[in-house]
Amino acid sequence: MKILNIETSCDESAISIVEFKDEYWAGESFKQIDILGDSLNSQAELHAEFGGVYPNLAKREHSKNLVPILTHALLQADMLLRAPKPSVEKEKLDKIKEILQREPELYAKLLIFFAQYEKPPIDAISVVVGPGLAPALWVGVNFARALAFAWNLSAVKANHMEGHFYSAQFKNPLNFEKEEYLLETIDYPAIALLLSGGHTEIVLANESLKYKKFGETLDDAVGEAYDKVARLLELGYPGGPEISKLSDEFEKSNKEKDERIKLPRPKMRDEDLNFSFSGLKTAVLRLVQDLQKEGNLNDDIKSQIAYEFELAVQDVVLSKLSKAFEQNPSVKTLIFAGGVSANRRLRDALGDFAKEHSLKYLLPTKELTGDNALMSALASANRLQILREKAFSDPDNLQADSSWEIDEL
Ligand code: KG4
Ligand code: ZN
Repeated sequence: MKILNIETSCDESAISIVEFKDEYWAGESFKQIDILGDSLNSQAELHAEFGGVYPNLAKREHSKNLVPILTHALLQADMLLRAPKPSVEKEKLDKIKEILQREPELYAKLLIFFAQYEKPPIDAISVVVGPGLAPALWVGVNFARALAFAWNLSAVKANHMEGHFYSAQFKNPLNFEKEEYLLETIDYPAIALLLSGGHTEIVLANESLKYKKFGETLDDAVGEAYDKVARLLELGYPGGPEISKLSDEFEKSNKEKDERIKLPRPKMRDEDLNFSFSGLKTAVLRLVQDLQKEGNLNDDIKSQIAYEFELAVQDVVLSKLSKAFEQNPSVKTLIFAGGVSANRRLRDALGDFAKEHSLKYLLPTKELTGDNALMSALASANRLQILREKAFSDPDNLQADSSWEIDEL
């Protein structure tokens, strides 16, 4: 089966085309997938001036970029087929216009696309409907509805966090010379630490598609804390890579850390598995204000703060993870995914943890830690293989659901 996948939940517009076959199935999840096309446009630079994602700008950019990305992904997949005459009947265009009434630029570009190209040989459309930023999600959802209607295809709803969960199967570097992609298999039960800009969750999966969230942040997500602390230190956006660069530099320098640079480990000793990162951010704010008053906020001190911040995050994350494993000793796999799983220190620390506890450790190749349309493609593929017809939704009823939790699937 060949599916086209759309992701617009935050500030990445992405479309992939993947194929999966019965013989690639490994009992609980796929062990191979064929990546026919994969195109992505990141808006990170545009949002940088706001120090975070600005929803209406994200919406506008998705509307502008989806058709070019679709064209690019289809070209890679050898599915961009010139049409001798417009490929979508005139009678259908009124309804498509209505579906895309809030995205006029997207509609205009899609009309030109339909005038030039045939329906591609795909079997279904999958789209991320949540969680994420509502205005951004709606663009992808409406685009999926328009394409499904134009091409008479069924639709599959993908959950963004389930996408991150499955992204951990992509452990090898992507290689577009060769479209077959070998995937790691997940041995269940699995525990997943899903850390991103919008979410911080510990999730238990006893079997495929069955999730229980038993820890989450009560306020800021880890990635959000990284971004906010980066702003306090006047670093760029996204903050994660900037902070970890400074922190690594300080660690490598082998210098002594100034004893005033100390940050709290919020909720680390609490028995529950929830997190809180807003206090950590506030502690950085106070520290920065004090140092500024003294005129001591220089680059060296900033890298010390970045280092201490990373240690604080690592301590809290490891402590909660240990508790999660104490409560679930039969777990076989540790998954680490979400944008923050690009973090070198956490990748290593969780790797050590997995080794100590003899766990299979799965985390995405660095290119796929951030949002992309391959992870949700794999989530939809796994869902289709297990649930068959039940995985489909009527495209007319597709809706964005900005707070769709992974344990509500
Ligand atoms: O999953 P993602 O791409 O988008 C959301 O769904 O939120 O996650 C983005 C988050 C940002 O907050 C970014 O600062 C963080 O992931 N991030 C990192 C690193 N790279 C990205 N955090 C820590 N260390 C990194 N190397
Ligand atoms: Zn994400």
